[in-house]
Amino acid sequence: MTKPMILIPGNIYPHVSDRVEAEFDMVRIPTAGSSLLSDIQRKNIVGIASSTLLTNAFLKELPALEIIAHFGVGYDPIDAKFAGENNIMVCNTPDVLSDEVADTTIGLLINTLRELPKAEIYLRQGKWEDSNYPLTKLTLRQRSVGIYGLGRIGLEIGKRLEGFGVDIHYHSRNEKDGVEYSYHKTLLGMAHAVDTLISIVPGTPTTDGSVDAEVLSALGKEGVFINVGRGSVVDEDALIHALKDGTIAAAGLDVFSNEPSVVSALLDLDNVSLLPHVASASVHTRNQMGNLQVDNLVAWFSNKPLLSPVAETKHVTRG
Ligand code: NAP
Ligand code: 8YV
Repeated sequence: MTKPMILIPGNIYPHVSDRVEAEFDMVRIPTAGSSLLSDIQRKNIVGIASSTLLTNAFLKELPALEIIAHFGVGYDPIDAKFAGENNIMVCNTPDVLSDEVADTTIGLLINTLRELPKAEIYLRQGKWEDSNYPLTKLTLRQRSVGIYGLGRIGLEIGKRLEGFGVDIHYHSRNEKDGVEYSYHKTLLGMAHAVDTLISIVPGTPTTDGSVDAEVLSALGKEGVFINVGRGSVVDEDALIHALKDGTIAAAGLDVFSNEPSVVSALLDLDNVSLLPHVASASVHTRNQMGNLQVDNLVAWFSNKPLLSPVAETKHVTRG
């Protein structure tokens, strides 16, 4: 029996390609471009396993395509509405990474406030023998923290923050039942009420640039901004300006507007803590993400319900 033909365009986590190769007829191309496929491949590809940008023009070139399994919970590299309208299912990798991402967010928050990466460099440079590392101006003590996006990961961040004894607020589109943190209908309203803002919303047209100069200024001079959601959510120029002129005190960033390139204006600042988009990047969690990605393809082609279809997806089973 012929196996379903699955395309992997661009780089993918090796555990994913190993499993796709074992279970399907795998086709690999270096980038998502239809000119890299033979006519037979183009007509027979029924699934994609990817973590890369897939344009609508590219998807239109694949007449038999039924399903895209994306590596990551944020599926902004795919126009899922277009896919839904064209009867292409889209799956992502929710839940399995929430704990890891929440852990990293707390780590980044504390690194930003307490300058731990800088203190370690200080020790490694032998400077401790001359004098103690200076006391940090910032602390988590007595902070009020606003979570922008109280979804799966936001809730895990909230749980961890409870242990730190800080005042917790949130803003998302809807108020959540059974959550005791203070809800704010608007992001700006929340920014006025807190001094620390953690962004963990998806990158969408409605969140694009939503953390703007006004929101940053509302955090105040002791303000700290942490971004683990998507780089597109913050106006990066406004953030750099706010960090330079003391409108806010510091920022911790795992995501950027033009990854993997990070603008020198951010690299040059002393009051930022920067990570190269590593919030989910442990072998444990990436294996779970990869398994969920491939398990969705296996479920679909075995006529079983999809494990994690995105909201725009129309059918959960193939049959
Ligand atoms: P989720 O469960 O779908 O939660 C998203 C939250 O954002 C929900 O609370 C939602 O509000 C809120 N939201 C969406 N659009 C909004 C808007 N326009 N205004 C206000 N709130 C809005 O997703 P998740 O699993 O927590 O993941 C969230 C995002 O984190 C991903 O999409 C991805 O971009 C990012 N992420 C980053 C990393 C990393 O490595 N840095 C790793 C994993 C995820 P409602 O609940 O009211 O609908
Ligand atoms: C991954 C992420 O680093 O899940 C997401 O939305 O941003 C991260 O977990 C990314 O998707 C891997 O390409």
